[in-house]
Formats: sequence, structure tokens, C-alpha cells
Amino acid sequence: MQNFIHNIPTQVLFGKGQIENLTSVLDRFGKKVLLTYGGGSIKKTGLYDDVMKRLNDGGFTVVECGGIDPNPRITTVEKGAQLCKENEIDVVLAVGGGSTIDCSKAICAGAYYEGDLWQMVLHPETIKKALPLVDVLTLAATGSEFDIFGVISNMETKEKIGSKLGFPAVSICDPTYTFTVPANQTAAGSADIMSHIMEVYFSQRENSDMSEGMCENILKSVIKNLPIALKEPENYNARANLMYASTLGCCGMPGYGKDLSSWSCHGMEHELSAFYDITHGVGLAILTPRWMEHILSDKTVGRFARFARNVWGLEDSDEYELAKKGIQALYDFFKESGIPMTLTEIGIDEEYFEKMAEDAVKYGGLEDAYVPLTKEDVVAIFEACL
Ligand code: NZQ
Ligand code: ZN
Repeated sequence: MQNFIHNIPTQVLFGKGQIENLTSVLDRFGKKVLLTYGGGSIKKTGLYDDVMKRLNDGGFTVVECGGIDPNPRITTVEKGAQLCKENEIDVVLAVGGGSTIDCSKAICAGAYYEGDLWQMVLHPETIKKALPLVDVLTLAATGSEFDIFGVISNMETKEKIGSKLGFPAVSICDPTYTFTVPANQTAAGSADIMSHIMEVYFSQRENSDMSEGMCENILKSVIKNLPIALKEPENYNARANLMYASTLGCCGMPGYGKDLSSWSCHGMEHELSAFYDITHGVGLAILTPRWMEHILSDKTVGRFARFARNVWGLEDSDEYELAKKGIQALYDFFKESGIPMTLTEIGIDEEYFEKMAEDAVKYGGLEDAYVPLTKEDVVAIFEACL
């Protein structure tokens, strides 16, 4: 087993009714709050009214920064950071999914940053200080509620960068807030959760029984609970298991003790969403089975056979056949969850394949992936997705 350091400073308040703690949590940081949210789902669900009432009753001054887009933009980060400076904000409160939380991480750091905020995203090691971030999670997907990353897009340069922007101080994770997540986002979010796990499960050295087991169990939990959540959107247990899986996904724990490599499918997907502004989880679902087929070889077949056996409960006397069955099972699962499974269906053709592949290798560090990928490999994987 490899050495690892566990250092996650985020307090997670998980479960039904945890919003009761919101004002006492915020009081740790101050009375001036920047409230950030997305395109309006929290207004439709009533969560906005509930949060505002709590803030007003608690005597907080609230400045709002709404309208954060999925695949959040650097321009919104700039706007939010400016609001923090102008209003001497003490704490940022993000209410929403990964996009709102990611954007808010960048706002928290941007509030103290001197200079161009896109440079800050590109060079997070230059961040010296940040406002505290409290979030109320409304979508099980990214794991942003319990990790250091924020993914920010620059629409002008068609770049989408995952950057170490900072951990939330406190995350309120109440699965009931995900009852209203539509089926397509529930499925895409679950594909994202599974991808975070698979990116570490398929790694160069398989030397941590603890992590292997954790990964397999998280995958099995999503495979069990996504169909339930799609059929019964208000099934608390299904939503709670998906949310817990989301929270663990990106925090590092499922990979502790392993020899980790760059994340192949995330490297490729971030280019698809940088160029076409697609839903992250949909891009991952389309790419993953094709990536698996592309890298299946004598070197990797054992791992894929284990994936088929331990995650999908499949058997075959031939290892290659078993490996292929596991990949097919993953493809079928995504398809049955209602995810469009070709790039063509989501309006992507070969026009930018070369450029996206080049950027994926560069920004995604794909030469250091589980199976190193060249630009030509990535183009071939994109072509298989058409
Ligand atoms: O914007 P609103 O109106 O809130 O609607 C959102 C949005 O349209 C809606 N939604 C969220 N909660 C809802 C809801 N609708 C009804 N009821 C609710 N309770 O869902 C849509 C998608 O929201 P978004 O926040 O964009 O989704 P997600 O959480 O999947 O975040 C995606 C972003 O996170 C990045 C992705 O690249 C993408 O930019 N990632 C962040 C990571 C991280 N921080 O560690 C890692 C991931 O790999 C990922 O790259
Ligand atoms: Zn992801």
C-alpha cells in the first residue's frame, strides 16, 4: 500500500433536516453573506424562501449572486468576487449543485486575489487566502461538497479547468433536496459519481484492498439506487445513498493507498464540455465504455474481469469475454438510465476532435493515465463515440 495523507477540513452535516443548523454554522464566520445559486431551481423548489427566511430571522445581511450556469464561467466568478469586495462579505453561502459550489469556491478565493482571476484558476498555488464557504447541496454528482476542486470554464478561450480552489468549510447534505432533480440530471449525476470511482479503480497499481472494496461497494450502491431514484424520485434511502456516494467520490478516500494516475475520461470530457457546453455526466457516460474498449489488452484484462465479476456479478470462463461483458453492462446501465449514448445525439461531430484531443492530453495529463493516451488515441475514442 502506498503512503497517503488524509486532510479534509470540511465538516459535513448529512441527512434530513440538517438545514436547522444553517444559521449557527454561518454565525461562526460573520453576518455578511453572499448567497450564490444557479438558474432558479431553488426558487421553484422553495429552498430559496426557506434559506432567506432563516437568514433574515438570524439577522444576516444578504447579497445575492444568482444565475450561475452549469459549467460555471470565469465571468461569473469575477462578478461574485467583486460583490464580496464591495460588500465586505464574511462568508459565501452556495445553494445548489456542483456548478454553484465550484463557482463559489473560486469566488471565495477571488475575493482576496489581486490580479486576473483566470490566472488564479490556472495557477491555484498562487491563492493565499479565501473567504469561508458554506454550501447546501441540491444534486448528487460532483463531490464538490467534500473536495478541494472547482471546475471553471472560459468560454472565450474554450478552456475548462479543474483547479485546487479550496475545500468548503461546511457542507449541508440533505438528500430530500434532491427529490426534485429531474431524471436526466439524476442519471447524469450518477454517471459522474461512478466515473469518479472508476477513474481511481482503474489505476496502475492494485495494492490497497481497502480502496478496492470501497470502490466496488460505491459502484454497486449507485447501480442499485439510481434505478430506484428514477422510478421513485422521493425515495429517501435511494437519494441518500446516491448523495453519500457523491460526497465520497472526489475526496480522495476511494483511492487511498493506491498508485494513482491522471483521470482519463475526465480529461477527455472536460474538452467536450469546454467546446460544446454539454452536461458533464452525459459526456462521461458516452466516453467511458469506449475508453474501456480502447484500452482493453493483455495488461488490463485482469482488472476489467474483476470489474465485471465484483461490480456486475458476471461470470465467464474466458477472461476477455468476461471483461467485455462488464463493459457492455456499464453501457447498458447508462442507456437504460435514459442517457443519450452517442456524441451525435448531443450534437457533437468530428469538427474539433483534433483540437479537443490535443487539449485533453495537455490539460488532462493523459500521458500519465492508467493506460497512457496520445492525441491519436483520444481521437479514436471520440470517433468510437459518434
Ligand atoms: O441552475 P439550477 O437552476 O439550480 O438548476 C440545476 C442545473 O440546471 C439543476 N438542479 C440542481 N439541483 C436541482 C436542480 N434541479 C432541480 N432540483 C434540484 N434539487 O441541475 C442542473 C445541473 O446542475 P449543476 O450544478 O451544473 O450539476 P452538477 O452538480 O453535475 O455540476 C456540474 C459541474 O461540476 C463540475 C462539472 O465539470 C460541471 O462543471 N465538476 C466538478 C467537480 C468537483 N468540484 O470536484 C468534479 C466533477 O468531475 C466535475 O468536473
Ligand atoms: Zn466528474
